[in-house]
Amino acid sequence: MKTIDKISDMQSMVRQLRRNGDIIGLVPTMGYLHQGHISLIRIARKKCDTLVVSIFVNPTQFCPGEDFDKYPRDMKRDQKICSDEGVDIIFAPSTQEMYPDKSGYSAYVDMAGDITDVLCGKYRPGHFRGVMTIVAKLFNIIQPDVAVFGQKDGQQAVIIKKMVMDLNFPIDIIIGPTIRESDGLALSSRNKYLTAEQRKQAPAIYKSLMLAKNMIQNGERDAKKIIQNMSEFIINSGDFKIQYIDIVDMNTLQSLEHIEGEIMIALAVFLGETRLIDNIILRI
Ligand code: PAF
Repeated sequence: MKTIDKISDMQSMVRQLRRNGDIIGLVPTMGYLHQGHISLIRIARKKCDTLVVSIFVNPTQFCPGEDFDKYPRDMKRDQKICSDEGVDIIFAPSTQEMYPDKSGYSAYVDMAGDITDVLCGKYRPGHFRGVMTIVAKLFNIIQPDVAVFGQKDGQQAVIIKKMVMDLNFPIDIIIGPTIRESDGLALSSRNKYLTAEQRKQAPAIYKSLMLAKNMIQNGERDAKKIIQNMSEFIINSGDFKIQYIDIVDMNTLQSLEHIEGEIMIALAVFLGETRLIDNIILRI
């Protein structure tokens, strides 16, 4: 396994791989890899000849005051995990390499319309512009045939698929399922921030989604009622502040009053200072 940190070295490698006719797979990450990332790596591993994992904590997707500086990083551990999982190349550029300030970096990818302004986008202005920009840059540098993202970032998955379609990237996008702890908490690098007490409370997030699922399975179709029940459950379960709970159409991401079709129930909450997100998809 090679670790490459220069864009020009990655590009020469890609030219060679393409000449050999290799199918290239990419799993973009911000590092501090956990079982969720490993599950995406395993999906990608089966779909390609050469598997690249990118590790880059992307500053442009953090809003002012968010956790860019304290975001956990552990390259040695990530390298060991990737090597054990049969990854061929880690692409781990520096911030300066991706956004050179000497040349005055100024090109960004953005999306007009409704899917970036709702859910997390409403509370993290500029976040998805940062995500789309870095993902487009990684796609241009690595030229993958297939790229794998996680359903845990449900809105990101929808936006990336739309970007790939609208900008004609010849890339097959695969969305891997959310991986959970045995008590239901979705795996996230940010779970590391939780205190022991908060960690005990955290499964209430997934339980609230299961509560919603049960209500729907029992015939409830009024989104307001379901959201109300979820909110009460979460607030009564610990040191939570709810940022949003929403039930949206899976394709348009617009809020539904009456639940039908393919839907995503999504939420973002603060547990103490830590912001956690989760979602489930249901077909009604
Ligand atoms: O999902 C993530 O970890 C990040 O948003 C991504 C896709 C690696 C872009 O920085």
